[in-house]
Amino acid sequence: MTPHIHAQPGDFARTVLMPGDPLRAKFIAETYLDEAREVSNVRNILAYTGSYKNTPVSIMASGMGMPSIGIYSWELFTTFGVENIIRVGSCGAYTKTLKLHDVLLATEAWSESSYAKTQNGDMAPHNHPSAKLNQWLQESAARQGIPIHEGTVHSSDVFYRHEHEVFQKIHAEEGALAVEMESFALFHNARVLNKHAACLLTVSDHLITEEASTSQQRETGFKQMIEIALGSVKN
Ligand code: ADE
Repeated sequence: MTPHIHAQPGDFARTVLMPGDPLRAKFIAETYLDEAREVSNVRNILAYTGSYKNTPVSIMASGMGMPSIGIYSWELFTTFGVENIIRVGSCGAYTKTLKLHDVLLATEAWSESSYAKTQNGDMAPHNHPSAKLNQWLQESAARQGIPIHEGTVHSSDVFYRHEHEVFQKIHAEEGALAVEMESFALFHNARVLNKHAACLLTVSDHLITEEASTSQQRETGFKQMIEIALGSVKN
């Protein structure tokens, strides 16, 4: 039991998929898992454990932003025996090479956030996903014939910002293909705790074309992302 997760050691599988939204966690658990049971619901941050094709897996919401995923991933890694966390989220595209509802695997998170500096004094603006999890995700996507993009993501603390000046500079100077709000903190926690993390995203909005997905398109990209993530999980 931790301040934010009321569960017992052993209630979580080694691998946890983390969407931002609690209702997405519920939907994934109810749609894809066998014998899913709710294991925590503090602040309505729903968590489930069950199995996918006979492999145990948990699904838990992260909430939005680095402070939120920072808390939940820390507690999962330190108290519940979790080894692998795969964020399954959405992003805004910074480049026309990404189209709405494409799937993007993060190979690096760049951020101007103070999360790492405040957590342990780290000043580097980059954090990286686990090479092992990224390989499992690439293999899962290839097995299922689902195309993925790969590249740097910008983890931002601010959703409503002066889009054009800021994002064009970050795209040009840091090579970020898209923006989201969680990976940098998740990758930082995994690194300092000697655990594994990865991040798979679907493009929900486009900062160049200013398009946003219809709910139908969101569903397609979301389904593919979840199937890649679940198909990557190993015992
Ligand atoms: N997640 C999805 N779209 C986003 C955006 N435009 N900015 C930050 N996070 C996002």
